[in-house]
Amino acid sequence: MKVLIINGPNLNLLGTREPEIYGTVTLDEIGDRCRTLGAEYGLDIDFLQSNFEGQIVEWIQVAIGSADAIVINAAAYTHTSVAIHDALKSYHGYKIELHISNPHLRESFRHNSFVSPVVDAVVAGFGVNGYTHVVELLPRLLGDDQRA
Ligand code: DQA
Repeated sequence: MKVLIINGPNLNLLGTREPEIYGTVTLDEIGDRCRTLGAEYGLDIDFLQSNFEGQIVEWIQVAIGSADAIVINAAAYTHTSVAIHDALKSYHGYKIELHISNPHLRESFRHNSFVSPVVDAVVAGFGVNGYTHVVELLPRLLGDDQRA
């Protein structure tokens, strides 16, 4: 099972960026945790980050026909990007929107998501643990829990 975990702008700064909101764990550490845990479940995880909207659109397009699931933290593009919305609409594998914080508890400009209407599920507010929680859930969601 192939899974893309896509991270949007400024998430490369995790560890030092607004630690009171996002914690002090780095994105590399989260990626390591996801890949290690995913391997236990037979998931082949590509853990990606870009500050560029077009790059994220291209990764979603590459996933069409090649990945079983996408987990996306589009970060600020969540609230602005019709391009990411449209790309996700064309991807028919399992899709999960993820946020470290709960955007609904924050500024009103974070309350709208262009991602939510085109995904199967939304995970928000569990801190960086949300990533590993999703990795643990995915095998069952994809109907291939090799440890069940
Ligand atoms: C975020 C929430 C977004 O509103 C924000 O722009 C981010 C991170 C989160 O993971 O909580 O960059 O997606």
